[in-house]
Amino acid sequence: MSAQNQREQWGSKIGFILAAAGSAIGLGNIWKFPYVAGENGGAAFVLIYLICTALIGLPVLIGEILIGRSTSKDPVGAFKSLSGSKFWASVGGMGVIAGFIILSFYAVVAGWSLGYIYEAVTGKFHAFPEPSQAANHFGDLIGNVYWIVGYFALFMIITMFVVVAGVQKGIERGSKIMMPILFALIIILVIRGVTLEGAEAGIAFLLKPDWSLITGKSILEALGQSFFTLSMGMGAMLTYGSYMSKKDNIPTSAVNIVILDTSIALLAGLAIFSSVFATGLDPTAGPGLIFHTLPVVFTKMPGGYIFSIVFFILLSIAALTSAISLLEVITAYFVDEKNWSRKKAVMVFGGITFLIGIPSALSFNVLSNFSIFGLSFFDFADYITSNIMLPLGGLLISVFIAYRWGFGNALANLRNGAENLIDNYPVLVTIWKISVKYLSPVLIFLVFLYSIGIFN
Ligand code: TRP
Repeated sequence: MSAQNQREQWGSKIGFILAAAGSAIGLGNIWKFPYVAGENGGAAFVLIYLICTALIGLPVLIGEILIGRSTSKDPVGAFKSLSGSKFWASVGGMGVIAGFIILSFYAVVAGWSLGYIYEAVTGKFHAFPEPSQAANHFGDLIGNVYWIVGYFALFMIITMFVVVAGVQKGIERGSKIMMPILFALIIILVIRGVTLEGAEAGIAFLLKPDWSLITGKSILEALGQSFFTLSMGMGAMLTYGSYMSKKDNIPTSAVNIVILDTSIALLAGLAIFSSVFATGLDPTAGPGLIFHTLPVVFTKMPGGYIFSIVFFILLSIAALTSAISLLEVITAYFVDEKNWSRKKAVMVFGGITFLIGIPSALSFNVLSNFSIFGLSFFDFADYITSNIMLPLGGLLISVFIAYRWGFGNALANLRNGAENLIDNYPVLVTIWKISVKYLSPVLIFLVFLYSIGIFN
């Protein structure tokens, strides 16, 4: 409570959008989206992901940001102050825990991206005339415990530095400069990818649905991907919303974030799959997919040496702006609720996240034979957070808004900063209402049931 009046806010209206887009756009779009789409058969998966994003993602995102802005609190404090209930406070708590686990494996992959800056600078990629050599090289690198844990540690340290610097100085400023450059670079990769000989097969893979490949599990993956890529369901967007001013327009901001995030994912998918098929690589290669593919693409383009360096720098920065949003959630919780200093919270929880992430890093080498429910430690951490905890968080956010806080109260708050939109387009209000009251909770619930085989 005491921190309430010294709480920081975003420096400008666009500050929130950029920082939230910075959180949303990251490895989820460029690394994860192509590889899960590849593992789940391509176009049909992509369509389901788009439907999930429109019907569930956007409405729940608006709700999540709104809970944050209405209370100016961390996830636990926000649910507590709107409901006074321990149960709902613990929903915020589940988010804080999910954030921890996500960051622990996310930072491992971000470390690969950091490591690839060095590979690019030292010109390693141009030593791979055969695509399979790039894949083997990646295998060698992640097989090395020192390489994988070292870059993971480096990435965590950088993340902790930025989060200590605080909301405006650290998070906002960085996002403003880097995001547009990343966007431009991805367009260049798309152009190179689709003009490669044999790229059509990759484009078809992304655009022509084969429904026979869709299972309950892949629908859950699509839903999980939609939540993951939008940073939703665990309070990151809630926390960023809590630094927003009451004059900002939440629905418009959310639409912008969804459009930016989704277009980057689709562009990344296009760049990767055209290249994967043109070079005869395997679309189901899993988490290594972009690290197998992109080095090969860089060798095939003029200026590839420079592009490869810039690309991995920007990918690392995109990962950083996402990682800071994850660490920010737990930091906000300890600063707001427990009166810790920002620095102490970051040090303690950054350190703990690193420890939790070590088994994920080791699942590519010394622990590669170890599995939980048939998944490696890394895949398990991803699965339980992305596909279970985030959609469950989204379900609870909709239920909270519709049945606990009350739709009327939520709408009255949402109206701040969005008066024109809400007064002139009542149909949008109706759509949002139907979605948070019925569509989101029911659909998420059905996807859960379907994925565990209830309907088979
Ligand atoms: N959305 C980010 C990405 O796509 C990852 C991320 C950041 C995230 N914060 C999150 C995922 C909160 C889930 C929840 O790379």
